[in-house]
Amino acid sequence: MSKTCEHQHNCIKELKTDHEEILKKLDLLKKAADGSEIDKKQVKEFLHFTETFAEPHHKKEEEVLFPELEKKGIPKEGGPIGVMLLEHEKKRNHVRKLKEALNEDNESQIKESSLAIISLLQDHINKENDCLYPMAEEVLSKEDLSNLAHRCQQLK
Ligand SMILES: [Fe+2]
Ligand SMILES: [Fe+2]
Repeated sequence: MSKTCEHQHNCIKELKTDHEEILKKLDLLKKAADGSEIDKKQVKEFLHFTETFAEPHHKKEEEVLFPELEKKGIPKEGGPIGVMLLEHEKKRNHVRKLKEALNEDNESQIKESSLAIISLLQDHINKENDCLYPMAEEVLSKEDLSNLAHRCQQLK
């Protein structure tokens, strides 16, 4: 890896940029699912987004960032990492329900699952931005952050 690369990449910064993108799409989902009429096309677009962008984002955390934080002594069980993993699973369950609801054209369930995803992910992202990522920045060196950024890119 070249020196220039080390200066350019920081996995926490890149994951935070992902969060901004996810939050934007959650706003669109809210507009689509919380109005007087549900915009099913837009809800479907959100499902595509979650598979192609949000899910890979969670994978970067689960497969690259969190294991590295555990190595640095941040515990998985009974700590923030365990909570984040549990919330990723909860989100996946809501997404499964939302898919089923779309297939069945069940509007009240589409709305309920969409709102559940929105509130869960907004809260989840706030916790990562305000609590877990600052912890990560304390225990990871600049070089670690750069190495992790490269490993995250390789997951894509
Ligand atoms: Fe996460
Ligand atoms: Fe995240």
